Amino acid sequence: MCLTIPGKIKSIEKGVARVENGGRSVTIDLGLCLGAKVGDWVLYATDRAVKQISETDAKEIISLLEDHYHTVDVSKLPLQFKKILFKVRSREKVESRKLKVKSGGKEHDLTKAEIEYLLSLKGGENLETLYAEANSLRKEMIEDFVCIHGIIEFSNYCRNNCLYCGIRADNKELKRYRMSKEEIIETAVRAVEDEGYKLIVLQSGEDMSYTDEMLLEIVREIKKRVKVFIFLSVGERPSQFYKKALRAGATGSLIRFETSNPKLYEKLRPKHKLADRLALIREQIGQGYYVATGNMVGLPDQTISDIAEDLMTIKSLGVPMISSGPFIPSKGTPLANHQSPITNNQLSSNNQFSNDQINGEWKTGNEKSIEMFLKYISIARLMMPEIKIPVTTALETLDPENGRHRGLLAGANALMFNLTPEKYCKDYSIYDNKYREREKVWQKYGLFKGEESWEMLEERLML
Ligand code: 5AD
Ligand code: SF4
Repeated sequence: MCLTIPGKIKSIEKGVARVENGGRSVTIDLGLCLGAKVGDWVLYATDRAVKQISETDAKEIISLLEDHYHTVDVSKLPLQFKKILFKVRSREKVESRKLKVKSGGKEHDLTKAEIEYLLSLKGGENLETLYAEANSLRKEMIEDFVCIHGIIEFSNYCRNNCLYCGIRADNKELKRYRMSKEEIIETAVRAVEDEGYKLIVLQSGEDMSYTDEMLLEIVREIKKRVKVFIFLSVGERPSQFYKKALRAGATGSLIRFETSNPKLYEKLRPKHKLADRLALIREQIGQGYYVATGNMVGLPDQTISDIAEDLMTIKSLGVPMISSGPFIPSKGTPLANHQSPITNNQLSSNNQFSNDQINGEWKTGNEKSIEMFLKYISIARLMMPEIKIPVTTALETLDPENGRHRGLLAGANALMFNLTPEKYCKDYSIYDNKYREREKVWQKYGLFKGEESWEMLEERLML
């Protein structure tokens, strides 16, 4: 779903209002807010007001999207960084001349060495510059529209044993749950009807007790009852299943390749092969799914070179959306006490994972993982200006206060909200202390009913 932007009404004439949001001033049709007066705040999408909101809530939404524009003195940057910025900027010029065609040609792509260089950047000034560059590209390409996905984690059973994952089959510490077919449908319908969600992700472990037919029925029934886009995140199932799910009404698929290093992949996902995973991803792309894929950043034994390869893999797959997140050790798994060599070596000797919890809250020792992931987001944005990059829950878990804001300012442009019923939520513990939504303002106002966002979505999902 696409979120609207708040604006303050400066003047009104015949149902048309002049609204201001920071430095921006636009003319909009008062549409659904004909009762609004000068001085009131409204949410608007494109050129139409969709909802009147309070000043406090407007300011809260603005603060999340707000930039702290960083003025960059390019002359002071290291030479290699300057060269990369020059390359990125000249590609943008080429692209805008071609009216934003998808790629500016191979000669403008970042090389692996350049990606590695950016991933290894240190120092406040360099990092601020990288984030600011990516953020300004985000604004240029897609303005301040943020897409919202609601996730229903309907089962925490999984037949697999990925070493990193808290809901792996062998984790006996975990209380398992399965939502019934009716419960899943009802949760989705409520999210759409009561809260205005327009895009829902159905996620679970690889739980074969839901037969292919059951999942298809769930998709069909939700689509029958409400107008919503459904994304599946249910792991590896036969290609026939995915084909039928499209016909049943599914639109997208969240399926990560986790790491593009085949050896690391096999170590972390016993009995699985990277080539099979990539083949499934390619197949889904071919079938017509709106595919989101990506990796984890900061895995044990993962190198900077691996992460650069991951980014290049995403780009070469040509997907419209990324699904990536920082690795967070999870109790009850073989990697519970593992520290990422990358985030540790590079940034400080601080033990980032084991001592960073006070009263159940993650503390700033996670900064190294956060920083690495923010760099990853920014580089992804520079490499793929138009791609959707959600701020995933794992980043919000590492920085519950500001993770979401920082992710957006580093170039991300989509958000994930958890719709799993309260009683199950804590058991979907892929990793420890998983972040749970606290801001209500987004739920109250960010989500609205109205045709505008459907049009935007339909255009985006290339339907
Ligand atoms: N830390 C971060 N992400 C994880 N995932 C699984 N375990 C972890 C972890 N410990 C991610 C995987 C998977 C997605 C559903 O959750 O990338 O694809
Ligand atoms: Fe199962 Fe996915 Fe976790 Fe692996 S990452 S154990 S497949 S839920």
